[in-house]
Amino acid sequence: MLENLHPQPADKILALIAAFKADPRADKIDLGVGVYKDASGNTPVMRAVKEAERRILAEQTTKAYTGLAGDPAFGAAMRDLVLGDSVAADRVAAVATPGGTGAIRQALELIKMAAPNATVWLSDPTWPNHPSIIKYLGMKMAEYRYFDSATRGVDFAGLLADLGTVAQGDVVLLHGCCHNPTGANLTTEQMAQVIAVLQDKGAVPFVDIAYQGFGDGLDADAQITRQIAGAFDNCLIAASCSKNFGIYRERTGVLMAVAKDPVQQALTQQNLAFLNRQNYSFPPDHGARVVTTILTDPALRADWEAELEDTRNGMLVLRQQLADELRRLTNSDRFDFLSAHRGMFSRLGTTPEMVEKLRAEHGIYMVSDSRLNIAGLNATTVPILAQAIVSAGI
Ligand code: LMR
Repeated sequence: MLENLHPQPADKILALIAAFKADPRADKIDLGVGVYKDASGNTPVMRAVKEAERRILAEQTTKAYTGLAGDPAFGAAMRDLVLGDSVAADRVAAVATPGGTGAIRQALELIKMAAPNATVWLSDPTWPNHPSIIKYLGMKMAEYRYFDSATRGVDFAGLLADLGTVAQGDVVLLHGCCHNPTGANLTTEQMAQVIAVLQDKGAVPFVDIAYQGFGDGLDADAQITRQIAGAFDNCLIAASCSKNFGIYRERTGVLMAVAKDPVQQALTQQNLAFLNRQNYSFPPDHGARVVTTILTDPALRADWEAELEDTRNGMLVLRQQLADELRRLTNSDRFDFLSAHRGMFSRLGTTPEMVEKLRAEHGIYMVSDSRLNIAGLNATTVPILAQAIVSAGI
């Protein structure tokens, strides 16, 4: 049986982890996988997470199963964090999932059950695992223009033109904030126009929000998701806690499905629980419990928000430093887009050959599409990267 297997394509982001580890150069710089690092290159456990874990360890009296949807308190806490009061709570079905990827996978499975002929529209570019999972599930997909490689901003005219061709019932995947891989984001005014097009077409929005709190702040980053949730009878939201709680390996995420009324919500909730049962039965609990503990305790929550703000501001400072240094070295504003982008990533907008040159000659690792992880930089490495970009002739 196993002789029938074929090698699978390597994930271009994850492949960088091994390549970076194997590089013996002491001055190598890792700007690859989307993991936050502090100035000393550490991915810290957040203070509030440590304290929540301490409490859970001291107080937890059982490890018996929760429910197929996970602990309902987690679903409610995440609904409040992501959706605020944009939609009535009794219209939102929610299940805990293994990370944001688990939520995306379950959302796609739900789409497959409810609308097997729907095409799922993805931004060009998008996080490479989106098309990979869709292809694996044998679903139809299409792309809408997103990135303007001249301005390194959003190609809004191209995006609107392409979304104008979606068919009724198609699903359009949008990044809630901090677009991965480009760092270029829609404004709330632009999103209002996108919403009008999708409503006109009868499309269903599907929001992937994995970086809430990394862009302009917790509420600002949820704005687009809330606009969407408030505007449609149905939409799907996959939210990750990996980044904003720094609990990557705990695999903590939630899939929320906004239904048109409480009756449809109950049916959707039952289907989501069924899907969890088919795929992995009960979802992981530890990370979800940590998140719930933090979000429902005012002091812990305040401390988490403060640390998240420090993280966010640190990335903004690095963005500005890199843009300033490149302005100084090139005597031009060509790289000012770096300070306008938001989140962990920016796409430089150069060729895979140039990215390879940076790796080979300077030990600088970024994804082949020229996505760099801003959080992988620090005050020492910003000038090194800027100089390497200029020397490479980017
Ligand atoms: C990334 O985009 O680097 C992260 O979301 C990590 C991953 O799983 O790809």
